[in-house]
Order: sequence, then structure tokens, then C-alpha cells
Amino acid sequence: MREQEEFFLNAQDFGKKFMWGVSTAAFQIEGAYNIDGKGPSIWDKFTTKPKAVLNGDNAKVSCDFYNKYKEDILLMKSMNFDNYRFSISWARILPNGIGSVNDPGVQFYNNVINFCLEQGITPWVTLYHWDLPQVLEDKGGWTNRNIIGWFSEFTQVCANAFGDRVKHWMVLNEPMVFTGAGYFLGVHAPGKKRLKNFLPAAHHAVLCQAEGGRILRKAVPNAVIGTTFSCSQITPYRQNKRDRKTAIKVDALLNRLFFEPALGLGYPVKDAPVLKKLQPYIKASDMEDCKFDFDFIGIQNYTREKVKYSILVPYIRAKIVKASKRNVQTTLMDWEVYPPSIYNMIKKYSGYTQIKKIIITENGAAFKDTFTGDTVNDTERVHFLQRYLEQVLKAKQDGLNVHGYFVWTFTDNFEWAEGYYPRFGLVHINFKTLKRTIKASGKWFSQFLSSKNQQ
Ligand code: GAL
Repeated sequence: MREQEEFFLNAQDFGKKFMWGVSTAAFQIEGAYNIDGKGPSIWDKFTTKPKAVLNGDNAKVSCDFYNKYKEDILLMKSMNFDNYRFSISWARILPNGIGSVNDPGVQFYNNVINFCLEQGITPWVTLYHWDLPQVLEDKGGWTNRNIIGWFSEFTQVCANAFGDRVKHWMVLNEPMVFTGAGYFLGVHAPGKKRLKNFLPAAHHAVLCQAEGGRILRKAVPNAVIGTTFSCSQITPYRQNKRDRKTAIKVDALLNRLFFEPALGLGYPVKDAPVLKKLQPYIKASDMEDCKFDFDFIGIQNYTREKVKYSILVPYIRAKIVKASKRNVQTTLMDWEVYPPSIYNMIKKYSGYTQIKKIIITENGAAFKDTFTGDTVNDTERVHFLQRYLEQVLKAKQDGLNVHGYFVWTFTDNFEWAEGYYPRFGLVHINFKTLKRTIKASGKWFSQFLSSKNQQ
């Protein structure tokens, strides 16, 4: 492993306008799952299902950000971050999914937003980071076309409530993951499986993505509107024709499916013919309605995938070869540590001239952190961040279209189906006492950022 001393970069090298921040999501940090009128979300329900989440973990308390938001925002400020990305829990604002607004829920986000602004931190709001109100899932959730109306109402309520102070918005977080893992593989909430659930969920997400953008554009003066996508470099496992073709197909499914329609390019059916099966869900004006002129695209990159042809996988005929089977450095998620992936993804998306700006809205890693003495000496995470940041800088220096970087994530939190096992934070959380301790990576990052305001 490389020595830390070899790393000479600091934030100033990225230029004064480059934006630096941390990202979080409501369900992963807030806790207070049934407090002050909040309704249950699909993740509240999913976490009660036996074996759905590692060790049977739930997020009833999690980091208790609901009560500790001031402490966390102050800590963020002390670490030199000036942008904070967080999401709104739909069921906290609209416990019945639609209809009557829960004032204490709105108040909570007003408090968070106001406190950020008082501290000189710019709030970046994600509307939907996977926690659909359970009442809407009971009506079919993302598979029900009525989701467009439900989501529009939620968006309008948020825009009206927060739009006077929040100018940076992201409509969806990683639609590929919440529809793929939640409605096809069944490993995330709501735990549905099968293509017949995935396809309508995916198409409705694409429509909501654009509709959310339009509502924000109308309701929020001077809004900077984006949406986020998961993406990974896709490499053929073997250099043969079949695997190369498979890689193109998987790239279309994982990296292009959700944003090409927004650019007016339609679905990437040519490279992923399985997407022809979307046709029955597409109504006359839909492909027009999928378009929206986003001010930025958030890309979220952690790793790369190697894929091979497999006759055994129905419809897709492709298989991801796990990192643990490839003799490479991995994180606790069994994701390969592969810094060039972030460069290649910035390059790929920069190739779409319709995209105005790219911001890295998530990047980070889970490693086995150990608390020694009074700190966590997470050198692997420090190296990970340094090596990925070198690639982001290289992209910027090569003239690619990247304008900001948000670390995933601020504090350790509830990592979905993996529960509390993988820790991703720059700040350690003791989940028994809720004590926050800045890790070595957090100290390093704040040092890295401290140069940004210097001459
Ligand atoms: C992203 C997701 C985050 C976080 C992260 C690390 O896919 O948006 O909520 O879980 O991955 O796994």
C-alpha cells in the first residue's frame, strides 16, 4: 500500500469554484421513525422482515440525526465542509403519502436548513432517497402509474415549504438501485422481485425524475436542479466477443437506462434489447415527458464491475463476477477499489454534450474500522479517498465537465440491507452511546479542505 506522504494534493488544486460537500440520506441517519407524526416508510416495514437486513438491524434510532442535527452540522463546519446534501423523508412530511401535511415534519427540515444557512453551509436537498411511504407501496408503489401524481404532490409541498431557502435540488437518488434492488432482485425495500415489477417501476421513475424537475423549475426561483445516478465502469471479464457484448449491454442497463431518456435519447434498447419490454408501459406522450433540462447530473461512483456472458441468467444473460473472486483489493461491500473508474465515468458522461455540469454526489468506502484509544485510524479510507480524488483532479485537468465532489458519507449510518456492519463515515458513531468521533479520514479531509480559502 502507498504511503500517505506521497499525497500532495489539496482542495485549492481543484480551483476556487469547485464544490465540496458531504452526502447523507434521511432513512440512514435520522432515526425518530415514529416521532412527531411521521408515517411508516417501506424501509421501516422492510427492516421488520426476518432476514431482510443483516443481523436484523433496523433504523428506529440509527444516528438520531433528528435530535442531533445541530451537533452534526457544527461538526461538518469544523471540518471545513460548506455543502451538505441530505434527503427529505416523504413519510415525515406527508404521513399518508398524499393529503395532509405534517407540520412538525416540515419544521424539522426547516430547522436543519436554517441551521445549515446560519453556519454558512449550503443545503442540497434530495427529494427521494428510497423511503417511499408504506401507504403508497400498499397501492403498488413505483409500479403504479399514479406514483407520478403522488410524487408531484410531494415535490410541490417540498418546493413550497423550502424553496425560499433551498436552491440546490436533486430529484431522485439512484433510480437504478431503488428499482433494481427493490423491485427486481427483492434485496431492498419493498422486497419485490421480477421483471414485471421492475419495468413499470423503472419507467415511472424516469417520468417522475423529469416531472419533479419541472415542478421545481416553476416553483423555486433560481433553483439549481439535478438528479443522481449510480454508475460503475463496466469491463468484460474475458477478452472475447461474447463478454465484450455483454459489457456493452450491462453498461446500457446500469449506466444509461435512467438518464438517456431525460436527454431525449430514449431508452438504450439497441444495446439492451430486454428494454423492449418497457413498451407496454409507455404511453403516447411519455418519451416527450421524460425529458428535462437538468442543471447538473450527480454521479455516484464506488467501484467498477467485471461482467461475463451467462446463459443461466434469464433475460439479461449477464453475470457480475464478484470482486472477491478476482483477487483484487476490496471494501467491506465486496466492491473492488478501482480509482480509474471514477475518471472513466466522468469522461463517459462528459461525452454527452447535453449534460451541463457533472457533480460527484457520492464517493467513499466501507472498511473494517477499529476504535483504538480515542480514535479510528482508518488509513485504508484515507488512501481510498486520496486515490479517487487524484482521478477527479485528473479529469478536471483534462478539461472534463466535473464541478464538485461530495463524500459518502458524514457519519457511519444504517447501510440498507447490510445494516450497521459496513461503516462509511468520516465520523465514527458508537451506536450504543451515539457519541461522534472524527476518524483519521475526517481529520485528513478537513486538512485537505483547509487550503481552499487560502490565497
Ligand atoms: C449508494 C446510496 C447510499 C449509500 C451508498 C453506499 O448507492 O445512494 O445511500 O448506501 O450507496 O452503499
